[in-house]
Amino acid sequence: MKSIVATAPGKLILFGEHAVVHGQPALAVPLTALTATVTAESTLPSSGLHILLPDSRHHHTLRVYPGSDTENALVYTAQLVLKTLGITTPPDLKLILHSTIPLAAGFGSGAAVSAALAQALSQALGHPLDHETLNGLVYEVEKIHHGTPSGIDNTVIVYQKPVYFVRGKPLETFTIPRPFLLVVGNLGHATPTHITVGAVRELAEREPERIQPILGRIGEIANQARTLIETGQPDLLGPLMDENHALLHELTVSDDELDQFCAMAKQAGAMGAKLSGGGRGGNMIALVNEKTAPAVQEILKQAGAAKVFTTQVG
Ligand code: PMV
Repeated sequence: MKSIVATAPGKLILFGEHAVVHGQPALAVPLTALTATVTAESTLPSSGLHILLPDSRHHHTLRVYPGSDTENALVYTAQLVLKTLGITTPPDLKLILHSTIPLAAGFGSGAAVSAALAQALSQALGHPLDHETLNGLVYEVEKIHHGTPSGIDNTVIVYQKPVYFVRGKPLETFTIPRPFLLVVGNLGHATPTHITVGAVRELAEREPERIQPILGRIGEIANQARTLIETGQPDLLGPLMDENHALLHELTVSDDELDQFCAMAKQAGAMGAKLSGGGRGGNMIALVNEKTAPAVQEILKQAGAAKVFTTQVG
């Protein structure tokens, strides 16, 4: 067998995180600057199925037996592929994983790694999974990390398209006729998504009258943002980003550092800024143009962001 290579991008949530868990729409895009790559190669007869992580500190190798090992997301992904294809004896293959997507940083690393692994394995077995099956499979794996994820991460990563996502609704993509630039600031530490999602759920249960309108307004913002993007006016997104950020602050998922980073990005010339993803650490994004991007990047670096880069959306 010739070696088979499958890749999957990272993701960025533009609008609607958290509200999406409660049925509101959200917008997310693939982040192609970061990728997970899995190469499938055949090995000696009877050697079994192994996942190799050459970039990990101890050059880990994981053996895949049939079953359902939810302890390890990679092994579980491979097991789900075998189960989906009705294969009871693991093939003699090695799956070599490389990823430039930082772990647990809000860039969708978990979903990207599972998607690339499942694609490489299913292709090597001669039965590439269709998008819908792959999406369902990656969602199952996502549940290990996130408890009750909305499904936005796996959807944008599997379809590798800008996604207008409403939980439980069929896939809807959107177009970006005029690309735009975002500076992404990663804080270098993050809170597990199930914790922030749980905090918002508790708040919504405790104070429904105050919280439901906030979630509803975030949904409206996502719709307004989609219209601006699709009509080629992305430079008008700034105020919607600021408002979405303020509402996420109300939901308690921003923190002082995210608030400061967003304020500083604006001082340095960004048209708007917000946290992106689960919050309480993680990532923020700022809307910039060619001229303002360098100053915004610089100020975030000086403020202590662990990773700062500019990405073109669309
Ligand atoms: O923490 P991230 O980047 O995986 O984003 C989670 C997005 C939430 O809306 C907070 C949760 C979800 O499942 O949609």
